[in-house]
Order: sequence, then structure tokens, then C-alpha cells
Amino acid sequence: TRPLSIAVAGLGTVGAGVLTLLRDNAELIAARAGRPIIVTAVAARDRNRDRGVSLEGLRWYEDPVAMAAEARADVVVELIGGSDGPARHAVEAALNAGRPVVTANKALLALHGAALAQKAEAAGVTLAFEAAVAGGIPAIKALREGLAANRIGRVTGILNGTCNYILTCMRDQKREFGDVLAEAQRLGYAEADPSFDIDGVDAAHKLAILAALAFGRPVEFDAVHVEGIRNITALDIALAEELGFRIKLLGIAQQEEAGVAARVHPCMVPASHPIARVDGVFNAVVAEGDFVGRVVLEGRGAGAGPTASAVVADLIDIARERHTPVWGADHAALSAVPALPMASH
Ligand code: HSE
Repeated sequence: TRPLSIAVAGLGTVGAGVLTLLRDNAELIAARAGRPIIVTAVAARDRNRDRGVSLEGLRWYEDPVAMAAEARADVVVELIGGSDGPARHAVEAALNAGRPVVTANKALLALHGAALAQKAEAAGVTLAFEAAVAGGIPAIKALREGLAANRIGRVTGILNGTCNYILTCMRDQKREFGDVLAEAQRLGYAEADPSFDIDGVDAAHKLAILAALAFGRPVEFDAVHVEGIRNITALDIALAEELGFRIKLLGIAQQEEAGVAARVHPCMVPASHPIARVDGVFNAVVAEGDFVGRVVLEGRGAGAGPTASAVVADLIDIARERHTPVWGADHAALSAVPALPMASH
């Protein structure tokens, strides 16, 4: 069979991770995908940086939009990040050209997901984003496929690996915030602009995506209440600990009478709750369905390996021609469901 060829836009931590995973697990991936998945083109600014993976024989682009529009590969993988600029333009160019897209870009999906979904649906192509939420945890597949028969009442999660890492180190090593943040950046967990992590914006992006899947329609991002962990001190954590609580940055989205309420803020979680024990770079996603009950998923939420694992899972689906609508249901059918306003908080 013909291999699935991919063009990768962005060769930072995650991009290099995807190339490494495709190389190291090539045989297993080919078996699961039904054909080999090969990288044929890449777009990145710096050609000479050592990324620990060979770029020999790949077509090199400086402009990701040109690469996405030029159609030299079956699929475009967008790993640049950012809700606008080259990432958005590259995704739009690929969809306009009728080419499937795999992206890890939560900001893009949270802010422009509805429009991009329409574009993808109009073109009849896949827009896949497993890597955009909770790194290596298959949270998108879980909500969209595994739990598809349920009405979801609430989705809760630890959705930012950097914050959870910082809070864990502040607790266990009695270190202060800034010092641990620098370490999370070195480990490749933090966003290019780490204020997105520590101010809760990144978690809110992911929550908006989960809510759209859980409740069947895009959520207005501006209506998500967002508060980060900037003002939490090691003393707060120690005091909470003494009272039998852990401080976690949680994202919570639930159906309420008036509509869907979504919020991100630090919470005191009883130490005995399963989510309290999710430490370090790990994330958790908890979904409550009317027939299944509570489902808890846990795994690494950031970093090259976990994120690459999710990107390649999407590529395998595309190689197998498994196609799921972006928000998990046909658009026409969803439009028939009355829109729920966002509840005020
Ligand atoms: N900066 C993000 C995090 C990366 O720390 O969770 C994964 O989306």
C-alpha cells in the first residue's frame, strides 16, 4: 500500500518528538496504520539546530503556510502553536486545499475551533487534535468515541502539566514558584509564553475543547472564568496539607440549568480524592456520563513523548481512513439541538 506522507510544521519539542516516535516505532506504527507513515516535508525557522533526529532527505520550508498550501504530502501536522499567525494560516491553507490536518494547538481550537470545524466539514476532511488536550491522555477519543452514548453532566480535570509540576515541587521540595517554573521550562513542559500556563489560560483552552465535545457545541472562550496559580505560595500549600487538602489547578465544565458553566481556578482537593494524587507533569480528566458513571483518565500532560504519542495516534486514524466529525456529531444534527447560553458564574 501507498505510505501516508506527512508535512510537519514546527520542529520544537513536540515536532522533534513526533519525528523521533515515527522513527523509533516505525514498524509497529505501520502495522497499526495499515501502511508506513513517512515525513516528507518540514517547516521550521532554524535548519541547523540539533534536534536529535535526522532531517536528511526531507523537503525544507521556512514558510509553513507555503508548505501547507503546496500539497506535497497527504496530511499537514501543525505543531507551531499560537491561536493566530502562521499556525492558523497553515491550518486554513491545508483545509482549503482539502488536506487533513493534525494539530496539537489548543489555543487555535479553543478560539477558532468552530470556524475551522466548519471548514474541515465543508471540505470533507479530518481535523484531528488529540494532542491538544492533556498531552498523552486519549481524552478526545474517550469523550468523542468511548463515551459517545452518554449525556455528559460534568468534565473536570488537571489540564496543565506545568502548573501541576510547579504545585507538586512547591509541596514536596518546599521550593518557591519562580524557581520551579524555570525547571518546567527546561523540561519542555511550559508554553512559549509561560504566563499562559501559570495564569490558567492554557488549561482554559483545553477545558473549552473538552466542553465542546462533552456538551456537543463550541463554547465561547471569553465566557470561561480563568484564574491561575501565580499567587499561591509554598505556605498556602503547606497549610492546605495540614488541613488534609491538596491545592490543584482544576478546570471544571458542567451543564447547569441556564447552560454550560466553565471555569479554571486553584481548588482545595481532599487528599483522599483520586485527583489529589495526580502529581508532577501528570494530568487527569474526569468525565461523568449518565450511563457509564464516573470515568477517570490519568497520564502525562506535557512533554515531547506524551504529546507525540497523541499526534501519531491521529495520524494512524487518518492512515486507516477512520474519520470522526470534529465535535463528534454531524453539524446538521447538532444545529437542531437548541443552543445553550453560557451560565454566569
Ligand atoms: N504547557 C502545557 C502544559 C503543554 O504544561 O500542560 C501541554 O499542552
